[in-house]
Amino acid sequence: MSDYTPVTKTSSIKEGRGKSFTVNGRRIAILNENGQFCAVDNTCPHAMGSLGRGRIRNGIVVCPVHGYAYNTETGECQTDPRLKIRTYPVIVEDEQIKVQTEPTK
Ligand code: FES
Repeated sequence: MSDYTPVTKTSSIKEGRGKSFTVNGRRIAILNENGQFCAVDNTCPHAMGSLGRGRIRNGIVVCPVHGYAYNTETGECQTDPRLKIRTYPVIVEDEQIKVQTEPTK
C-alpha cells in the first residue's frame, strides 16, 4: 500500500466544486461535497474536459464541457457506460487533503 501525498488545504476547494492538481505525475481532480473530499482522474475521457472544473452533487461529478456525469466512488460514467475514470483514496489530516495515487478502481 503506498503512502498518501499531501496535496492542498481543505479551505482551498469550495463546497460543491473541485480543483485539479498534479500528484505524483497524475492529473487528479479533488472535489468537495459538504466537506467530504474525493479524488478522481482530472481528464474526462469523453473529450479531455477538466473534471476539476466540474461540480459535484450526490457523489456525482459533472464535466463542465458537455455535462457527462461520473460516479466518484466507482468511476463509472452515467452518461456513456463505455467510459470510466479512476478514483483515488483520500484522507484529511489537520485540514490537509492527502491522496493515494494508486487507483482504487
Ligand atoms: S469533455 Fe467531458 S463531457 Fe465532453
